[in-house]
Amino acid sequence: MRSRAFAIGLAGLALSAAAMSTVRAEEVVKIGLILPMTGQQATTGKQIAAAARLYMQLNGAVVAGKRIELIIKDDATVPDTTRRLAQELIVNDKVSFLAGFGITPSALAVAPLATQAKVPEIVMAAGTSIITEKSPFVVRTSFTLAQSSVIMADWAAKTGLKKAVTIVSDYGPGYDAEAAFKERFVRAGGQVVASLRVPLQAPDFAPFLQRAHDAAPDTIFVFVPSGQGAALIRQFVERGLDKAGIRLVSTGDVMDDDQLNGMGDAILGSISAHMYSAAHPSAVNKAFVAAFEQANHFRPNFMAVGGYDGMHLIYEALKKTKGSTDGAALIAAMKGMTWESPRGPISIDPDTRDIVQNIYVRKVERVNGELYNIEFETFPAVKDPVKAARM
Ligand code: PHB
Repeated sequence: MRSRAFAIGLAGLALSAAAMSTVRAEEVVKIGLILPMTGQQATTGKQIAAAARLYMQLNGAVVAGKRIELIIKDDATVPDTTRRLAQELIVNDKVSFLAGFGITPSALAVAPLATQAKVPEIVMAAGTSIITEKSPFVVRTSFTLAQSSVIMADWAAKTGLKKAVTIVSDYGPGYDAEAAFKERFVRAGGQVVASLRVPLQAPDFAPFLQRAHDAAPDTIFVFVPSGQGAALIRQFVERGLDKAGIRLVSTGDVMDDDQLNGMGDAILGSISAHMYSAAHPSAVNKAFVAAFEQANHFRPNFMAVGGYDGMHLIYEALKKTKGSTDGAALIAAMKGMTWESPRGPISIDPDTRDIVQNIYVRKVERVNGELYNIEFETFPAVKDPVKAARM
C-alpha cells in the first residue's frame, strides 16, 4: 500500500512539474530588434536579423523557462523613427530588451528611453565610442571605430608610410576613426596632410578621392559604414588611384564581407584592421559561417556577428538571472561576461559595458575563387581606446 501511494505521489509530482514547466515556458520574454531593414543601411538589417534568427534556431526559443519572442522593426536609419519604435515596443509590447541599432544616431536616440524604462539596450552594430556612456542600460556587442583605427595607424606607420590623407563619413563613427587614426599615426612620426569628410547620405566619393589624390599622400585611410565600401572602391579604381602608388588602408567596415566579392581583383592585397572576418580560422567560426550560409545563402559579415553575440549576451544574462527580466539585474549579469564568439574571444568590460575583443590586421586574398580578408596579425583583448585613455 505504502509503496503504491508513494508511486502515485511521485507520478503526481512529475505531472505537476511538467505542468509547471509548460506554464513557465509560456511566459514570454520579448526582444525588440530595431534595424534598418530598408534604405541605405539595409544590408546591416538583413545581416543582423538573419544572425538573430539563426541564434534562436541553434539554441532554442526557451531560456530559463521563458519563451523568447523576437519582434523586428524597421527604422530605415531615421533616428526619430527609432525613438518612436522603441517607445512603442516598451509601452505596448512590454519588451524586456531593445536591441539592434544600425547606425550611431539610432542608438543615441534610444538611450534616454532605456534609462527611463530601465530596459537594456543592446547595441549590435553602431560604433561611436560615446554611445555606452549615454545610459547605464547600454551594452555593446559590436565594436568601436577607435579599436580598429589605432591598430591600422600603428600598422601603416610600422610599414614605413609617412604621409596620409583620411576620408571618413561625416558623422560620429567617422570623427572617431579620423581622430584615432591621426593621433596614433602622428605619434608614430607620420603626418596627416588632409582630413576629408564625406556626407553619410547618398555619398559621391569622386571629388573627395580627387582631393586626396591631389594632396599626393603615400596612404589614404578610409572609414565608411557597412554597405558603402563597394561604391567607394569602384570610384577609387575608376580614378586610377589603385595604380597611383597610393596605399589604401581602412577599417574593416570598408572591406565588408557582405560586398567583398563584388569589389573585384583591384582590392587584392588591400589591408584593413577589424574585429571579424568570415575567414577567421577557428572551429567556432567555421561552424557559424556554415550554418549561416546554409540558412541564408549569403556570407555573414561583422554586423551579423554583432547580432549573434548580442543574442548570446541576452540568453546568458537571462540564465544568470534565472529568467528575471529586471533591467538592473540583467545589466549586472552582462558585466564581465566572457565567451568565444565567431570573431574570437570577447568580453563585456564591467566598467564601461563596452566590448573587449581582438583586432586583426588582414589582407584581401583569393581563396577557392572568392575574396576574403585573411588575418595575419592579432592584437588581443583591445578595449575601446577612447575610454581607456580617460581611465
Ligand atoms: C555607426 O553608425 O555607428 C556605424 C555604422 C556602420 C559601421 C560602423 C559604424 O560599419
